[in-house]
Amino acid sequence: MTDWDQRYLAGDTPWEKGQAAPPLVELLGKLEPSTWGAGPVLVPGCGLGHDVRALAMLGLPVLGVDLSPTAVARAGEFPNTGKETYALGNFLDPAWWAGREFSALWEHTCFCAIDPSERGRYAEAAAECLCEGGLLAGVFFLNPFDPGEVASGPPFGVTLAELEAWFAPWFVLLDGWVPTLAYPGREGREWLGLFRRVAQA
Ligand SMILES: C[S@@+](CC[C@H](N)C(=O)[O-])C[C@H]1O[C@@H](n2cnc3c(N)ncnc32)[C@H](O)[C@@H]1O
Repeated sequence: MTDWDQRYLAGDTPWEKGQAAPPLVELLGKLEPSTWGAGPVLVPGCGLGHDVRALAMLGLPVLGVDLSPTAVARAGEFPNTGKETYALGNFLDPAWWAGREFSALWEHTCFCAIDPSERGRYAEAAAECLCEGGLLAGVFFLNPFDPGEVASGPPFGVTLAELEAWFAPWFVLLDGWVPTLAYPGREGREWLGLFRRVAQA
């Protein structure tokens, strides 16, 4: 099991690029700001919070949650737009998400970071956190490994069929595409999906 805080303390953070994720920049350029709802917006596994601050520029309240105290502390050291906050917590823990309600959730490299056996808990946490009609927007790593590389993670890849199966109990798929903007080396390996939270049958 990954000790995320130790990785931040050791500087072993190859995912940390010092900027908002390129697919989020692409999405912010495409979506009407109202698509995110009235807020707050949740960013699970927010790391140093670059995506949180990019979303906060929409003028909506945004909460980034991460289970690494070091990441949360460092996120809070960046200049604040006045709309974002950061919290220490385990997004998968019902004690963390119970009673919270968000109009949208932005997923980037949290789903692929958790153990695949926890994906059902992730989907349930996302569903329970979002209001009915809420937006789940996320980048999912389809293929993190180079040809010939032994497949180990994190990151852990996922297929579109698996994604749809995990989220189907609570979400309908609105749209999805391979993002044009990507970090070098991730081109064509990610998928950006938009899901709508629906009432349970
Ligand atoms: C690969 S890093 C990505 C960080 C950030 N999204 C980024 O793009 O820079 C995964 C992050 O998820 C956090 N994380 C992993 N499991 C989590 C959980 N159950 N709840 C909250 N954060 C979690 C880790 O501490 C780490 O900061």
